[in-house]
Amino acid sequence: MRVAVTGAGGFVGQAVQRLLASRGWEITGLDLAEAGLSLATHRVVGSLDDPDVRCAVLAARPDAVIHLATVPGGAAELDPAASRRINLDASYDLLVEAAAARPGLRFVFASSIAVFGEPMPAVVDDATPLAPRLLYGGHKAMIEQAVSLFSRRGQIDGLSLRLPGIVARPASPSGMKSAFLSNLFHALRGGQPFVCPVSAEGTVWLQSVACAAANLVHALDCDPAGLPVSRALTLPALRVTVHDLVAEVAQQCAVAPELVRYAPDPALEAGFATQPPLSTPAARRAGFGDDGDLSALVAAALAGLG
Ligand SMILES: NC(=O)c1ccc[n+]([C@@H]2O[C@H](COP(=O)([O-])OP(=O)(O)OC[C@H]3O[C@@H](n4cnc5c(N)ncnc54)[C@H](O)[C@@H]3O)[C@@H](O)[C@H]2O)c1
Repeated sequence: MRVAVTGAGGFVGQAVQRLLASRGWEITGLDLAEAGLSLATHRVVGSLDDPDVRCAVLAARPDAVIHLATVPGGAAELDPAASRRINLDASYDLLVEAAAARPGLRFVFASSIAVFGEPMPAVVDDATPLAPRLLYGGHKAMIEQAVSLFSRRGQIDGLSLRLPGIVARPASPSGMKSAFLSNLFHALRGGQPFVCPVSAEGTVWLQSVACAAANLVHALDCDPAGLPVSRALTLPALRVTVHDLVAEVAQQCAVAPELVRYAPDPALEAGFATQPPLSTPAARRAGFGDDGDLSALVAAALAGLG
């Protein structure tokens, strides 16, 4: 199988590449820099909004596309034009061009729980309406619609997966508003104090990066008959309190949980730490999963840090 991965050099993209390579699948990897593309068979360095770059991505005639490249949430609010250019226009262009190059190809779009907006309702399930407030979530919701439309028209065989918070990303600046969740892992692993910008009682939906990559790769060959007409699935995730997360990371890193001090930022608390109970039967029926339990999630996230 030949798979094109946009944003392949990023946090999730590198885990996806590892999984695809372990199956012997041919990878065309696109990113802004070559550094993270070492596992790709074909490396395309450039920006998604350049038509020649998209053409180069599709030149290897992929059987499927995993579209991860994005302007993240924090960066999108700071630069709305860039969010429109990459998260909306170039993503739509990629859909059109992929459908033309290989009609009916499987197109997996990395959407986000940001499509639900804030505040979230008391429970989120497969019937929860989308009500994004951030541009990032709004543009994700618009591309979900395009994936759904193009699939109904038979132009692609598409699927949008709404990812929860993925841990633990590299310590470098990411432009992601949720990066504090990963920074917590880095601090405790290094035995360093950490000021947590959300409360201990806060609740978050999480997946390890290995679990997220497994779900994205599962999306390449899951049965379209089992997918909803929206072609969008909210992925299963573990819902944990920040207190329990801190306790588990501290225990697995053999450090004291008291290294963490809480100084909640109201905006981060509202946006990232008030996540209600989550029910995802459609994704579970289609074979997608979470990490199982908190101990397994933390172990996988720490293992991913190398
Ligand atoms: N990490 C999370 O917690 C999370 C949560 C929900 C959704 N997602 C989604 O999953 C996907 C992957 O997330 P991630 O954490 O790996 O992000 P990331 O920022 O680590 O990786 C994205 C990659 O895309 C590349 N990229 C950005 N703009 C580009 C452009 N114009 N042209 C080509 N490449 C470009 C970046 O260089 C980067 O390597 C994204 O679409 C993101 O919205 C992630």
